Amino acid sequence: MTAQSGTVSPTAKLAVLVLMSFMTTIYLILIRWTRITSSEKYITTTAVAMQESLKFMFAFAILIWESKGISSALHTIKLEAYDQPMSTLKMAVPSVVYALQNNMNFIALSNLDVPVQQVLYQLKIPAAAFCSVLLMGKSLSYQQWSACFMVFAGLAMVEYNPSSAAGTNSNQNVLVGVGAVFVAVFCSAFAGVYFEKIVKKDETSIWVCNLQMYMWTTSASIIAVLTKDLSAVNEYGFFYAYSPAVWVLLVIGSVNGLIVSLVLKYADNIVKGFAAAISIVLSTIASHFLFQYDVGLGLLVGCTIICGAICLYCLPLPCLDSKFVTVATKMTGSQYDQLTSVTFADEDDEINSADSTK
Ligand code: C5P
Repeated sequence: MTAQSGTVSPTAKLAVLVLMSFMTTIYLILIRWTRITSSEKYITTTAVAMQESLKFMFAFAILIWESKGISSALHTIKLEAYDQPMSTLKMAVPSVVYALQNNMNFIALSNLDVPVQQVLYQLKIPAAAFCSVLLMGKSLSYQQWSACFMVFAGLAMVEYNPSSAAGTNSNQNVLVGVGAVFVAVFCSAFAGVYFEKIVKKDETSIWVCNLQMYMWTTSASIIAVLTKDLSAVNEYGFFYAYSPAVWVLLVIGSVNGLIVSLVLKYADNIVKGFAAAISIVLSTIASHFLFQYDVGLGLLVGCTIICGAICLYCLPLPCLDSKFVTVATKMTGSQYDQLTSVTFADEDDEINSADSTK
C-alpha cells in the first residue's frame, strides 16, 4: 500500500475492507463471549484503556518498521507531531469521541444481544453519509442515499429474531443498551468522517496521525478508569478477570482499530459501514453456532437486500442517475449506447480522481 490513496489498487482496497469485516466479526463475538460466558467480569474501562495503549504500541511499532529504525521513527514524530502542536491538538477531537464510543459499545453489548446491538449500530451508515455530506462536502446520489437506508433495513431483517430476544439475560438493561448504541452511532459517524478528512488532506504519515490520536484516547480512557472505576480497581486490581480470551479480544480490537484507520484513508467512512454490514451477516451465522442463535428466512432475505444495497451504492444504475436521465432523455439509439459506456467510464474517473485528491 502506498502513501497516496489514488495509487492504491482496487484489490488492495478490497483486501483492507474484507480484512476489516473479518476482524470486526471476531471482535464483536469475543466481546460477547467474554462478557456473557465468564462469571467474573473484567472492568470495562480498564479494557478500553488497555486496548488504546496496545493500539499506541502497535502504531509505534509499524512506524519504526516503516521508517526503518527507531531513531528515524522518533525523528518523524518530532517533525510531524512535536513540532506541529496544532496537528496533535486537532487529533484530540476524534480521540475523545472515539473513547466515548468505545465505552458506549461495551455498555451496549453488555445490555443487548449482539444482533440487536449490531442492527441498531448500523444506523451509523446513514449517519456517516449525513456527516460526510455536512463535514466533507461529499455529494451522494438518491441511489446512494437509498442504499445507505436499504442496508440498514437488510441488517434489521438479518438480525430480527423475536424468539431469541425472549431469552435476554436478566442482568441486561435494554433501555441502557439502546441509549448507549445511539450515542455510539453519532460518535462513530462524526469521528470517522473527521479522521478521514484529516488523513486524506494532510501529508502527515497515517501512523503519526494514529499515534497522535491514541495518545489522546489512552489519556481519555485512563481518566475514565480513574473517575468511574477507581474503587473497583483498588479492590480487585486493574487486570481483574483478564483471561486469555480477554487478551485475545484486546489484541484483535487494537489491530482492528489500525485496519479501520487504513480503511478511512484508502476507502471512506460510508464504504466502511458497508464492509461492516458483511461482518454482521458473518457474526449472525457464527452466533447461530456459538450461542444457539436462531437464524431463518430473515437471514436469506436480509442478505439479499444487503447485497442489493452494496451493488446499488457502488454501481450507478443509468435509470436512477439524475445526471444520466437528464442527458439521456435528449438522445436515442446509438447515442444512448455511447452515453452508457461514457457514463460508467466517467464514474470510474470521478472515483479515481476523487481518491487521488483526498
Ligand atoms: O464503529 P466504528 O466503525 O466507528 O468503529 C471504529 C473503531 O475504530 C473505533 O473503535 C475506533 O476506536 C477505531 N479507530 C482506531 N483508529 C483510527 C480510527 C478508528 O482505532 N484511526
